[in-house]
Amino acid sequence: MTEIRMRGDGYYSTHCSSQGLVIDRALPLILQALDALDPASSGTLFAIADFGAADGGTSIGLLRTLLSELRARAPDRPITLTHTDLPYNDFSALFRLVHGLLPGREHEGLQDLRGVFSFASGTSFHHQIFPDATLSLGFSASAMHWLSRLPATLEDHVHAVTASGAVRDAFAAQAAADWETILLHRARELVPGGQLVFANFCIDEVGRYSGATGERNLFQTLARLWRALHEDGTITSDELHRATFVQYYRTIAEFRSPFDDPASAVSRAGLVLEHCSSVLTPLEQFTEGQDAAAYARICVSSLRAFSESTFLDALEPGRPQTERQAIIDRFYAAYEADIAAAPKAYRREAVHCFMRVSKVV
Ligand SMILES: C[S@@+](CC[C@H](N)C(=O)[O-])C[C@H]1O[C@@H](n2cnc3c(N)ncnc32)[C@H](O)[C@@H]1O
Repeated sequence: MTEIRMRGDGYYSTHCSSQGLVIDRALPLILQALDALDPASSGTLFAIADFGAADGGTSIGLLRTLLSELRARAPDRPITLTHTDLPYNDFSALFRLVHGLLPGREHEGLQDLRGVFSFASGTSFHHQIFPDATLSLGFSASAMHWLSRLPATLEDHVHAVTASGAVRDAFAAQAAADWETILLHRARELVPGGQLVFANFCIDEVGRYSGATGERNLFQTLARLWRALHEDGTITSDELHRATFVQYYRTIAEFRSPFDDPASAVSRAGLVLEHCSSVLTPLEQFTEGQDAAAYARICVSSLRAFSESTFLDALEPGRPQTERQAIIDRFYAAYEADIAAAPKAYRREAVHCFMRVSKVV
């Protein structure tokens, strides 16, 4: 069973700080959402949520801007901010970050913002997290590609995005069901007029996705290097096949589908798609003259932050922890060598579907 988790202790946002670049690009949609909510008009609570926040470090800049803007427009309105993630998440790092207690990152804390009450929830976004009609503005970045369950085993791949046929169809069906469930829970949680802003990994209109915009495909490379560990006798065939990301990159059409059908459960629940676009964000890029080994190290650090648990959990639990860690270290060292040998082939760009959704009833 895969326990979805990012690396803890602030490692995620330290090494995936470029994910913050994606989040920062959601600011115009966040401000539109704020305008639509007319924040100064009411003395009631203004409740904000960040769904799938990891350690909170990548979204804290955007949230600070949102909170400052909201405070300027509504000086006395109480605000709640709830970071959500799964129970395996390092919430301790999240709390330390929000309270300005993470060493070296004290300035990122939100403790100076007046009237902002901070909470966290370990309930999955595949379930209802907030009581009916209490959430004003929900945000989520790079999280909803994680599925609620693994719908099939991938024999020769580690990610559904490189698979085809019936196996890929099983992932697509699970992703469609999960997307509807996520939206219906959010529809119940939102206040009338409430807003959602999402930046979700996607396959864009021309077939690009994160990990597949350069010459080499990230997921094919991971599958090849994992298979090499089987071929040299390091891992068993069960361990080879168990390494599967419980993820699916939806297409833009798949994201839009429940909104485009006026008879869908999502439309009937009052959710309306106000904005939908694909956005490509350049992350790490190798530049001429740069140290190839250093570039490879940066790329692998950010890759490990989100992928390590998938490969660790594929290994037999009976293996001693030091042996498990040694195998994983070898795996990522091979990936690092691959990048260092051909750094230009590994361009890192993120491909997201940006959406703003309103609750109209
Ligand atoms: C790649 S990180 C993104 C973190 C941050 N939002 C960002 O954009 O940098 C994905 C996060 O989604 C969380 N996640 C995955 N499935 C989830 C679920 N069902 N409910 C809540 N969080 C989930 C993971 O634990 C992880 O922290």
